[in-house]
Amino acid sequence: MEHLVLNPSVDRKLVARLMFNLIVPRPIAWITTLSENGKVNVAPFSFYNGITSKPPLVMVSIGKRKDGTPKDTGRNIRRTGEFVINLPTEEFLKPMVESGKDFPPEESEVEVLKLELEPSEVVKVPRIKGVKAALECKVYKIIEIGETPMDLVIGEIVAFHYEPELLESSKGVVGRLGGKRYLIVDNEIEV
Ligand SMILES: Cc1cc2nc3c(=O)[nH]c(=O)nc-3n(C[C@H](O)[C@H](O)[C@H](O)COP(=O)(O)O)c2cc1C
Repeated sequence: MEHLVLNPSVDRKLVARLMFNLIVPRPIAWITTLSENGKVNVAPFSFYNGITSKPPLVMVSIGKRKDGTPKDTGRNIRRTGEFVINLPTEEFLKPMVESGKDFPPEESEVEVLKLELEPSEVVKVPRIKGVKAALECKVYKIIEIGETPMDLVIGEIVAFHYEPELLESSKGVVGRLGGKRYLIVDNEIEV
């Protein structure tokens, strides 16, 4: 077993790699937002989790691009105060991963990846058609954090859309592992 005690000269790439590989599997928030020109932006985020159910809060960590500019998702959430978390299952694995590549703000991932949308109930941001669950969220709080800095977005769920089968089984749901590895829930056990 290796041991790494953090100090100012530590290899930052290794620290990141350890976090990506040891905090696994991670749920994926496949987020839709609305840009200022009305285009729908889609991108995946796996530094994501639930925080509490009273009120129903989630957190998503949205970093900056390599050039230091904000990601479209973060910019749109700050402007509109709204977003939708779509749950990726196996059939959406490829477009979900593709949507994580850099698209210029004027280009919509929805058109390029041929995704279909449907309206949400409470927020203006639409959800992705065909996903098995979508959580409509409004911003509860945004905390600037870290060196870049990045946005820790806390969202309050204002509506759920879900296939009832998900209450019994998560089979087919996609999670993130380290590197380019993903997990498809398959072997569920009850303990
Ligand atoms: C599965 C997956 C998970 C990701 N998780 C995060 C994350 O938690 N935080 C983050 O800032 N970027 C994450 N990314 C990278 C963003 O998706 C990527 O920067 C994307 O281009 C942002 O798009 P946008 O500019 O349209 O918001 C992830 C990418 C993938 C493929």
